[in-house]
Amino acid sequence: MLVLAHVSDLHFDGGRRNVKRAGRVMKYLNGLPGRVDAVLVTGDIADRGRPDEYQQARAILDTDIPVLCLPGNHDDRSEYRTHFLNEEGSGPINRAHMIGDAIVAMCDSSVPGRPGGLLADETITWLRAVLDDAPPAAPILIAAHHPPQKLFTPIVDRILLDDTDPLEEIIRSDSRIVGMFCGHAHTSAVTTFAGVPLVVAPSVSSVLGPEWEGDGRSHDPVVDYDAPPAIAFHVIDDDHRLTTHFRSIAKTNSAHGFRRSAQPTLPT
Ligand SMILES: [Fe+2]
Ligand SMILES: [Fe+2]
Repeated sequence: MLVLAHVSDLHFDGGRRNVKRAGRVMKYLNGLPGRVDAVLVTGDIADRGRPDEYQQARAILDTDIPVLCLPGNHDDRSEYRTHFLNEEGSGPINRAHMIGDAIVAMCDSSVPGRPGGLLADETITWLRAVLDDAPPAAPILIAAHHPPQKLFTPIVDRILLDDTDPLEEIIRSDSRIVGMFCGHAHTSAVTTFAGVPLVVAPSVSSVLGPEWEGDGRSHDPVVDYDAPPAIAFHVIDDDHRLTTHFRSIAKTNSAHGFRRSAQPTLPT
């Protein structure tokens, strides 16, 4: 069994608010008495892609748990490389990781200068190579910032992943692929894509409301900055089935905040 903590859209902006929220999440994860195999961060790590924002991210995401990251539309590839990864290069930042017996393919769906997403030809070629190289019995998880599926959140539905056919063809032709994980939407959402579960993590920084939480006329997003930061936990069991739990990290919700009831009361 594999457990992945899915953290998204931290939007470090140089200020204290989002540092505190992300710090609360990492303190919670670091303090869990149980096992988390990796932390998945699906983009919008920085808010404007500035060096100081990546310095904040590096400090807060410094943990003994393996941290798997990819960029979002608020990230800047060049600054992300230089100040977050400490490396050189150009083009999409794609990474494949082996966590336990699973392969996690972290795909860069960002498009420099645009809020919407796209898997570049280079990324599609890379993903096919990852699958070719993956062990025949390995469960495979695909992650990208932009969801490939409409979510009924007006502002997000205009800036989803574009040209999804190649990704759909890849997923439909490989039965090892267990599911897909995304961020970007700032809301917990579950749907399907290409016949597998598509799970969108909540944001650490804010909540974006779906269309029925707005007035139906305005295109202004419904944003809740007061909601506590939230994350998802993905469990991949020995049958390669995905189960997801969502967790809000309230101020009092430390790893030690859960208490067993001394006298559990059961309905009779
Ligand atoms: Fe975001
Ligand atoms: Fe985004």
